[in-house]
Amino acid sequence: MKGLILAAGRGTRLRPLTHTRPKPVIRVAGRPIIHYALDNLLAAGVEEIGVVVSPETEKDLREALSGYPVRYILQEEPQGLAHAVAVAGDFLKESPFVLYLGDNLFQRGIRPYLEAFREGVSAVLALVRVGNPRQFGVAVMEGERIVRLLEKPKDPPSDLAVAGVYVFTPEVLEVIQDLKPSARGEYEITDAIQGLIDRGKKVVGVEVEGWWKDTGRPADLLDANRLLLEELSPRVEGEVEESQLTGRVVVARGARVVGSTVIGPAFIGEGALVEGAYVGPFTSLGPGARVVRSEVEYSILEDQAVLENVALRLQESILGVGAEVKSRNGLPRAHRLILGDLSQVELA
Ligand code: DAU
Repeated sequence: MKGLILAAGRGTRLRPLTHTRPKPVIRVAGRPIIHYALDNLLAAGVEEIGVVVSPETEKDLREALSGYPVRYILQEEPQGLAHAVAVAGDFLKESPFVLYLGDNLFQRGIRPYLEAFREGVSAVLALVRVGNPRQFGVAVMEGERIVRLLEKPKDPPSDLAVAGVYVFTPEVLEVIQDLKPSARGEYEITDAIQGLIDRGKKVVGVEVEGWWKDTGRPADLLDANRLLLEELSPRVEGEVEESQLTGRVVVARGARVVGSTVIGPAFIGEGALVEGAYVGPFTSLGPGARVVRSEVEYSILEDQAVLENVALRLQESILGVGAEVKSRNGLPRAHRLILGDLSQVELA
């Protein structure tokens, strides 16, 4: 069994965060999203893993995955999930494989889908009941079998959405060869699976246990961060001076918490600094981030992000790598903003 993680998309709904970096390297609960995919594959015994990257995402992914034994496969243009699978044909060869969307998170791993993949089954899909099926692939079931599959239908026939893990026999590669692009111009994996169904092949759906998250929008990232932080085991490897840590808090190596209050669950990354500050529940600070004389909760600060001398508490916020929010004393009392394209600021 091989594994194929897709990480070549444009991440348009997460701009501006994804203007400069691919979505799978954004950190939730202190780790790049794609690490959770790799851990789940490895935990399920899938050790030969390919990662589909684009020319724009390759460098960041190689950096985020250094130390993981994976093979990189280049998809020049994000022409759809089925196209990404076709590009990986040489890597997959004649092997069955798990297709894992690099921006999806599964609380309880992927074992149940591999267990349902047995003799006579051509594909297994992870499915989840959602309130907004129009945003996903949607399945119609008869018993354990999926009998119809539609990509982002206007009029969904069920509330069973396709979550981003699929197990396939190599047969799917043959179907992909004959695919035509969809109305949105992509080679859809959903159409390839419908092709298997049309050929009389057995496609099985297995409902996801525990939570599942597609980290498409900023609110999803914050929610994923919350869910993962809830499972954190507390540990203090850095320095804590004259501070109060309550609940599940991680202070990673080289981090310093000085004269501050941290209420967990919270993650203070390597080399981060929290000084004269309040860090509230569901907050993650990336490596080298700084919160100084400020308050923050239910937020993500990426690597080297800075929050300094800000009077009003920051909430439901995401600061990208190296982003800075500071206030200064003196006149004029004005906001001074340098915001990249599509940045969002809400001022109280
Ligand atoms: O998240 C679950 C949904 O994922 C399913 O319900 C849908 O049926 C499925 O089509 C997919 O929909 P999305 O619109 O969310 O897919 P997205 O374009 O966000 O791509 C998912 C991942 O695959 C993402 O990490 C980027 C990567 N990707 C995407 C494309 C289009 C590639 O590697 N290459 C590509 O060409």
